[in-house]
Amino acid sequence: MNLAFIPGDGIGKDVTAEARRVLDAVASAFGLAVCVDTLPWSADHYLATGVTIPPDGYAMLRDQFDAVFVGALGDPRVPDNRHARDILLGARFELDLYVNYRPVRCLDDRLVPLKGKSRRDVDLVVFRENTEGLYVNIGGRFKAGTEDEIAVQEEVNTWKGVHRIIRHAFEFAQATGRLRVCMADKSNALTHGHALWQRVFREVSADYPLIEARHLFVDALAMFMIRDPAQFDVIVTNNLFGDIVTDIGAELQGGLGMAASANLHPGRTSLFEPVHGSAPPLAGKNVANPFGACLSLALLLETLGHAGPARAIESAVESCIAARGCTADVGGHLGTREATDMLIAQIQSTT
Ligand code: NAD
Ligand code: IPM
Ligand code: MN
Repeated sequence: MNLAFIPGDGIGKDVTAEARRVLDAVASAFGLAVCVDTLPWSADHYLATGVTIPPDGYAMLRDQFDAVFVGALGDPRVPDNRHARDILLGARFELDLYVNYRPVRCLDDRLVPLKGKSRRDVDLVVFRENTEGLYVNIGGRFKAGTEDEIAVQEEVNTWKGVHRIIRHAFEFAQATGRLRVCMADKSNALTHGHALWQRVFREVSADYPLIEARHLFVDALAMFMIRDPAQFDVIVTNNLFGDIVTDIGAELQGGLGMAASANLHPGRTSLFEPVHGSAPPLAGKNVANPFGACLSLALLLETLGHAGPARAIESAVESCIAARGCTADVGGHLGTREATDMLIAQIQSTT
């Protein structure tokens, strides 16, 4: 398989290096033929060349690679985040990766931050619409810098966009035996855009009589995810709300360092990345947790049909966490590289 790796910025570079080592380990353990191209697109590259992503960048990702792995993008030296918008959001849009799949599964009771709850209570998935909503970047600023400044940022909801993500959530629920789908919007305040979500949810859910279709306003969803996450199997929501509630989801798994994600267009080249960002204060210090990145690599392998290596990575992460062979954010004493060494040793001892 041909993979593009984009380490990006900050701890994105640290954790991508580790995901790369884990990939080599599973490739040799399972006899996978893997070819990796590492692409330099990042804040450093932008500041040095003025190029965020080359003009043929999206076509190259789509045509030359089976999947793309991204570390993280974001750097204080690029305050308007232009390079992240072009590289990460640009790839989501241009490759039409309309499904942002963010599993929320806690691997150890010790990591559950909620009083009286165990890992059994934290096992849900979030489907975030990934190609429209408030992320379309339509708008502008008028009289910028004055006291008369007006800033407009439009939210776009299309029938096609809303329909395909809600349909995907129900299809996933049906295929995996998860019997509850919750759609979260803010249709009590956003009475135009989110009325479309209401309508489509009603229409699509009617095709799945065995699946419980529930609606929550997103503020109530945030509250219930903390009060009692066990009531959720599948959550589907828009781009911005999905971004926010998946940071809550990350915390339920032990923190941002543990959370994995996939940006998918089923059947096409898709992109895999940890949920966390570039965490500039941690960058280059051998402290970032590499497991969210490694679990994102597992999602990549699974999506490309390599379920064995994917499971091997997941169960090795679980064993490392159980043995506290992990970084400090999840209760261990190891550095980024040493936690990955332990993960790789675990993979090698079980395959
Ligand atoms: P962040 O996820 O980078 O970090 C927030 C905090 O979470 C960190 O300070 C750290 O305490 C913890 N954390 C995150 N990842 C960790 C890891 N692997 N190991 C241990 N601790 C970890 O979020 P932020 O500080 O809001 O954003 C920093 C930059 O990253 C910004 O430029 C932002 O735009 C960007 N960002 C990028 C992505 C992405 O590329 N997908 C996602 C989120 C934020
Ligand atoms: C994420 C990130 C991105 C998003 C940022 C970096 C633009 O927070 O992937 O969760 O908002 O989608
Ligand atoms: Mn986010």
